[in-house]
Amino acid sequence: MKILGIETSCDDTSAAVVEDRHVLSNVLASQDALHAPYGGVVPELAARRHLETISSVIRRALTDASCSIEDIDAIAVTRGPGLVGSLLVGVAAAQGLALRSGLPLLGINHLEGHALSPLVHNDLELPFLAMLVSGGHSAIYLVRDVGDYVEVAATRDDSAGEAFDKGAKMLGLGYPGGRIVDELARKGDRKAIAFPRARVKADPLALSFSGLKTALWDFLCRHGRDFAVEDVCASFQEAIVDVLVARARASMQLLGVPRVAVAGGVSANSRLRERMNELPADVVFPPMSLCTDNGAMIAFAAAQRLARGLRCDDLTVRSRLPLGPRRAAETSAGATAG
Ligand code: KG4
Ligand code: ZN
Repeated sequence: MKILGIETSCDDTSAAVVEDRHVLSNVLASQDALHAPYGGVVPELAARRHLETISSVIRRALTDASCSIEDIDAIAVTRGPGLVGSLLVGVAAAQGLALRSGLPLLGINHLEGHALSPLVHNDLELPFLAMLVSGGHSAIYLVRDVGDYVEVAATRDDSAGEAFDKGAKMLGLGYPGGRIVDELARKGDRKAIAFPRARVKADPLALSFSGLKTALWDFLCRHGRDFAVEDVCASFQEAIVDVLVARARASMQLLGVPRVAVAGGVSANSRLRERMNELPADVVFPPMSLCTDNGAMIAFAAAQRLARGLRCDDLTVRSRLPLGPRRAAETSAGATAG
């Protein structure tokens, strides 16, 4: 079954064709250069650029997969969470295409796309934990099955990607900053600066990165230009990675699930990959091309839902769209949602 996946939830316009676990094409039109002067995504500009590029991106996804719309069996599109203006462009394009071709149309949760993306190229026994670390989200989910997710941990403030991006902005490194910090950190000393590792007293699994951001700002105010940027990047990155690894470890122990799928833009981080691989667990990552937002993960999630007969006919666009309920104290890995 060939599925065309369309993703426009934030600042990347992407379309892909996926057949089972084969990514036949995955086209991405990045808007990084458009938003770079502002140091973050400008929603109005993002929506307009999606509108300009969506048709050609879809066309190229079909061409790269050596097929036409007649060869496609279903269309899948992200309906949330994300920027409403951006989401609307993708959903409208998908609806137009579905109307014209008569193909079934599936509305997919962006977070489900990320959470399942490591499974495109890896097998992982159920249940497993999905650690989703991106620019918009940082959370850990218990995946009991496709379509059955429980939020185990979430950030109280910034996401891990936001911490990377804001840190990079303070250091004048450009946008988006995660990849740049990752590269500079390779040449730096991770112990040079003792940045804080935040803990939330009431919730030991919760993530928090806003204090780290303030700590970096304080450091820069105190030191002016008298520091090695590589050392700051390495120490700052280590603080983020330490928190993520600690929460993954604690979640694994609490739920007795030694299997973790790490996904989202920050899952491309080389130090996070190194540290997660040291855990006594089965740890899988998506390939680099499926870490940041992409249409292939949306098509793949749709295929997984279709294979289980799960519904995805709701196409209402939502800026907030939880993947599943929050964990109740008694949540066990084996129980089903019912
Ligand atoms: O998943 P994604 O494309 O978008 C959202 O759904 O939010 O993630 C983008 C985020 C950005 O914050 C970017 O800085 C971060 O992923 N990122 C990285 C790396 N590559 C991308 N963060 C750390 N290290 C990287 N190598
Ligand atoms: Zn994303």
